[in-house]
Amino acid sequence: MRAIMIDHVGGPEVLQMVDMVEPPLQPHEIRIEHAAIGLNFIDIYQRSGLYPMALPARLGLEAAGVVVETGRDVSRFKLGDRVAYCSTPGAYAERNSVPEALAVAIPADVSFEIAAAAMLKGLTAEFLCRRIWPLAPGDRVLVHAAAGGVGGMLTQWLNHLGITVIGVVGSAAKAQIAERQGCHHVLLSDGDDIAARVQQITGGEGVKVVYDSVGAATFDASLASLARRGLFVSFGNASGPAPAFEPGRLMRGGSLFLTRPTLFDYLRAPGELDSAAADLFDVIKSGAVKIDIGQSFALADIAKAHTALASRQTTGATVIRP
Ligand SMILES: NC(=O)c1ccc[n+]([C@@H]2O[C@H](COP(=O)([O-])OP(=O)(O)OC[C@H]3O[C@@H](n4cnc5c(N)ncnc54)[C@H](OP(=O)(O)O)[C@@H]3O)[C@@H](O)[C@H]2O)c1
Repeated sequence: MRAIMIDHVGGPEVLQMVDMVEPPLQPHEIRIEHAAIGLNFIDIYQRSGLYPMALPARLGLEAAGVVVETGRDVSRFKLGDRVAYCSTPGAYAERNSVPEALAVAIPADVSFEIAAAAMLKGLTAEFLCRRIWPLAPGDRVLVHAAAGGVGGMLTQWLNHLGITVIGVVGSAAKAQIAERQGCHHVLLSDGDDIAARVQQITGGEGVKVVYDSVGAATFDASLASLARRGLFVSFGNASGPAPAFEPGRLMRGGSLFLTRPTLFDYLRAPGELDSAAADLFDVIKSGAVKIDIGQSFALADIAKAHTALASRQTTGATVIRP
């Protein structure tokens, strides 16, 4: 089967298409013939070495497809089932073997493309808006990269919960997308003084939560945008990792909290993946969260997909065709 591998870290050029023999299936695994693969910023961190992996490595964490083989201890799935997953390496391939506990069934009225686009990013939006901090209708939050994959789903879900969303985007075209997805206010990262505009919009109070996936470039503005006792959620490094900082800044900012979460810690307890995925598919089916697939690439063009995502050229989610 064809798969993408890296044997050293670096730029998009290290992504190599290889013909490989599929590993034997373990007793608790299912083999999935991919119909659609999700592209995520974490793939870039793994490719570049920011998140180290044992090499050589297969990349990609998220895909949707059909079960074509089951291990002898598999009890949840059978041949022909439509499934998706978001936490097993090797998704950049025609097929992948996945522990059955890490896969979920795709509802009949959700397409493979939507499932592949939504699993990792939508489940991230789910824990960020519903489980990380108690939010109530009328609360105000700040979302960076609001027209991106996670940002677009998070904005819509927050909006659905009655939260007032201030979104930050990198261009006027992305501002239109963010507005369409329910941002109540949209700021431009290279034109607006983000913290000053947030203080203006909130009457000097600041926002209850900042969702910051941009990292290095936005850290100071994010801290300065928070209300007293607000929460800084630093959940990504699109511009580079957030800096080391002195905890006294949290006190001076108004007894602030800071968390640096990862989705996988929010899917760890028994039942958490199934329950979060069921809630995600519910908001997709109801139309509360519309999955915007901004672009797609063939698997052979994976380097182009990485370049586009890393250079801020994409909007919404990106799907890879196996
Ligand atoms: N912690 C977790 O569990 C978790 C899970 C999933 C994703 N994430 C994080 O969530 C973020 C979004 O992931 P995604 O896959 O949906 O990507 P994405 O948001 O679609 O793409 C990243 C966006 O970040 C913005 N950005 C700002 N400065 C940038 C820079 N210097 N270089 C590149 N992009 C920059 C760009 O939007 P503008 O042009 O509008 O600025 C860009 O489109 C990533 O940081 C990812 O690591 C975290």
